[in-house]
Amino acid sequence: MTEHDPSAYGRHIADLYDATVRDFPTELTVARLAELADGGAVLELGIGTGRLALPLAASGLRVAGIDGSPEMVAVLRAKPGGDRIPVVLGDFSEASAEGSFALVVLVYNTIFALPSQAAQVRCFANAARHLAPGGRFVIEAWVPDPAAFTDGTAVRVLSAGADEVLLEAATLHPADQTMRTTKIHLTERGGVRLLPANHRYAWPAELDLMAELAGLQLQQRWSDWDRTPWTDASRSHVSIYRTIDD
Ligand SMILES: C[S@@+](CC[C@H](N)C(=O)[O-])C[C@H]1O[C@@H](n2cnc3c(N)ncnc32)[C@H](O)[C@@H]1O
Repeated sequence: MTEHDPSAYGRHIADLYDATVRDFPTELTVARLAELADGGAVLELGIGTGRLALPLAASGLRVAGIDGSPEMVAVLRAKPGGDRIPVVLGDFSEASAEGSFALVVLVYNTIFALPSQAAQVRCFANAARHLAPGGRFVIEAWVPDPAAFTDGTAVRVLSAGADEVLLEAATLHPADQTMRTTKIHLTERGGVRLLPANHRYAWPAELDLMAELAGLQLQQRWSDWDRTPWTDASRSHVSIYRTIDD
């Protein structure tokens, strides 16, 4: 079924990944996810290097993960507590983890790593399959913004330090709702590193429909982990879907 290589992202970025997410609101995200889990088990799709999974496990929750990248999982395994989290290596749109979960988590735009609408629909179904009755599926993603592109291209400064700069160059392909990005990591000593990632983007309404197809319903939507209300101006969203069966 898999029509792309789920290990590609990690192969390019695993050794650098933690540095690129240093300024993320990780503590707040973990607190919000722990509230949503409410003591129940958590499955993270695209668990990566354990940015969220490790603190969630340290808070006493049972945490498991699925990831396509042996390199990202190796970084997780090397951290304290990283060897105690069960991780299935595979494509999270179809791989199975053991058990059922109160919360399935897919953050940091990673739903868009799946290359087609069909793969994203499969992913919602796979998330729903892992949920206990009344369980929730949380997605964090950006809101597509074609207006940010000029002639189909855009460059953003993600961080700019005295000896380290992270840029992102992107091209937009509206005909198939895809965006190709390359992060450009510049350091005085390490030179230039190019970190490619492709996205099949979708607006929240399309994700809501995928949820409905999987037997889930939108329960809440915020603009961010601060619970900022969802408005016309929102450029990202945290969407919480719940099983319809209760
Ligand atoms: C942007 S990182 C996010 C890591 C972690 N969730 C975090 O928030 O720090 C995306 C992760 O998803 C994994 N990934 C991407 N596509 C995948 C797929 N189709 N199946 C399984 N894992 C995938 C990558 O290997 C990577 O570890």
